[in-house]
Formats: sequence, C-alpha cells, structure tokens
Amino acid sequence: MTNSLITGWGKCLPPTVLTNHDLESLVDTNDEWITARTGIKERRISHVGTADLATVAGKRALAAAGLPPADVDLVSVATCTPDMLLPSAASLVQDALGATNAGAVDQNAACSGFLYSLIMASGMVDGGVIDTALVIGSERLTYLIDFTDRGTAVLFGDGAGAVVVQATDEPGGLKASELGSDGAVADILWAPGSGTGVNRMELEKDHRLQAIAMNGPEVFKRAVTAMGHSSTRVVKEAGWALEDVDLLIPHQANVRIIDATARRLKLDPAKVFVNIESYGNTSAATIPIALTEALEARRVKPGAKIVFAAFGAGLSWAAAAYEFGSRTEPLGESDAELPPTDGDVMRLLADNFAYYGGGPGS
Ligand code: UT7
Repeated sequence: MTNSLITGWGKCLPPTVLTNHDLESLVDTNDEWITARTGIKERRISHVGTADLATVAGKRALAAAGLPPADVDLVSVATCTPDMLLPSAASLVQDALGATNAGAVDQNAACSGFLYSLIMASGMVDGGVIDTALVIGSERLTYLIDFTDRGTAVLFGDGAGAVVVQATDEPGGLKASELGSDGAVADILWAPGSGTGVNRMELEKDHRLQAIAMNGPEVFKRAVTAMGHSSTRVVKEAGWALEDVDLLIPHQANVRIIDATARRLKLDPAKVFVNIESYGNTSAATIPIALTEALEARRVKPGAKIVFAAFGAGLSWAAAAYEFGSRTEPLGESDAELPPTDGDVMRLLADNFAYYGGGPGS
C-alpha cells in the first residue's frame, strides 16, 4: 500500500528583528513581562510578501527532498495572510517555483492551517490521489498588527516553513489525527475588517477593524484544553503509550500553553521543541519552522514518534501522531534567498503606524 512520508523540509525567516526592547518604545510593555508571560524575546518583520517567504521555504524543502519542482502534484499554502484574495498565494508560489505539473490551493485554518494541510495532503497521498505535495505554512501576520494594542503587538511575527509529503514504500507517516473547530466563539480572536464582510465606510472610519483583535485570557484557556485533549487522543488512537512519544512539536503561541500541553502528555521538557523566543507566533508557519529546526538540531531520530498540536482563530485546532521516516538528513541544499533589506525595523513598520496609529515614542 502507498504510504505518505515527509521527505523534505525547509524554512524562511526574514532577517529584520523586532525585539522586546524595541516594543517598549511602541506600547506600554517591557521585556520582563513579555518574557515571563509568553516566552518571546524577539520576532521577525518581513520586507516581502507571504508568497515570497513561501517560495524560499518551498525551494529549500524540495532541495532537502532531492526533487525537481516538476515532480510536485500539489502546492498547498496554509496562510491567513495571503498577498491578495485572488489569486491564491499557492498559485504565485507554484509559478515562482516552476512547479508546472502542480495544482495549487490556499488553506486557511489560521494557526492550525499547516497541520490541517499536512493531514489533508497525507490523506491524498495515502489514498493514491497524488504522489507528491509541497505543504507550506507562510504568514506575513504583522501586516494585521495594530502596534498600539499591547495585547497583540508583542505576540506575532512573520515567517514560513515547508515540507514535502511523498508516496513511499517505507513505513511511518500519519498514524492518527484530529481536526476541530468551535466557530461559536470566533470573535475572541479575529480580524473582522480583513475580508469582504466589512462595510468600507466603517473601515475608513476605523482602520483598526482590519487588525487582529483578541481576548487573550479566553483564547489561552481554550488553547490549553484543546491542545491537551487532542494531543492525548491522537497518541491513544495511534496505539502509542505516552512514554513512546519522542518529541512534541507544538504550535508556538505562548510557552505557558506549550508547558501545559507537555504536562498533559506527561512529557519530559527534553522531549518538547520550543523556539518561540526567536520568532513569536508566526501562525501557520510555526510548526514547519519548528520541525525544520528540530531536524537541523538532530532532535528528530529515524522513526521518531512525533506529536504535532496546534490551535488558533476559528477557533480551530488540530493534532497528529506522526512517525518520521528513516532519513533525517537533507538530500540537498537550495541557494534560494530573499532579496536584501537594510534591516531597519521601524521603517518596515511605518506603514502599520500610518494606517493603525502609533509609532516610536507615541
Ligand atoms: O495562536 C493562537 C493565538 N493566540 C494565543 O494563543 C494567545 C493566548 N493568550 C495569551 O497568550 C495570553 O492571554 C496573553 C499573552 C495574550 C496575555 O497574558 P495573560 O497572562 O493572559 O495576561 P492578561 O491579559 O490576563 O493581563 C494580565 C495583566 C493585565 O494587567 P492588570 O489588569 O493585572 O493590571 C494586563 O493589562 O497584564 C497586563 N498586560 C500587559 N502588561 C505588559 C497585558 N498585556 C501586556 C503587555 N505588557 N503586553
């Protein structure tokens, strides 16, 4: 029987850094509070669009899999911040990659989007519908951040990560999964003026309708419950004992949510991958970036039993019990890079300040 496996991985982080100290000049906050309450020290601000970040991550993942773009059957981009609504970010990426034999689709389940896409692509490969998918999580989330709102300004960042999901004869792959949604509480994390449902006159009067708005403590409570429950359920459904789990790669939204999920799985901290201190919450991109860094740090052993878990706007959640393949080394490297930038973070954010308000010292 055909079996889907992750055979390539890659990430793309824009180089410009926004530190906690930088944020002290924008909102009433401080490094101690942000570090203690979230685990975040810095995040990246992109000088290019979501599709450009996705393209570089995608090229790196294809090189790691040793595949030419023409072998890809499906380009799937998980994002809630596409460059535009039409066409999809995936279509732009498909063209930029030269993936001339691929279909292309965006998937939006907010921060859970990459896991949704991974689970759906794995199912398509397992079912024989396609042989090879390039699954990317890519976000330019800071476009939707009002830097006068300290409840969101400190949390989010930009970036992309990608995996290649391929048909193989090797054992492993997706052993169990869960997808969930509770749309009844959608308004505790949303950007109500970011699509076509907003009256343009209202948006003109208050640009902040376009920005991400969040009831942090409510989201926090639900994240802890959904991540904990769904993770333990997929472990059980996969037929694993809790002690069989080698690595938890969770969505990176808040280190306290990650710790609570790990406690629910009774996991030693050495079995939990955390990189939130460097990038903050990059929504659909956190898990593929974290998986790539876990592989680079040799924390994914051949045949490793991995739990992925995510939670985000929707409210959506997803979890997967995933057995990694025997190859944990990349087959090749790509020389793809983003165009250069001068790294002036306040200059990059000037557009946000002009639109939503705020700015250094305001
Ligand atoms: O991908 C999924 C999407 N998002 C999430 O998962 C986020 C989930 N929520 C969270 O991570 C947390 O709720 C936050 C980090 C957003 C907030 O942390 P919290 O511990 O829930 O803080 P809080 O909102 O209950 O606020 C506690 C205090 C308040 O002050 P008082 O009323 O106790 O005097 C806030 O006004 O901290 C204050 N506060 C801040 N202080 C400094 C809130 N935000 C900040 C800030 N800097 N940025």
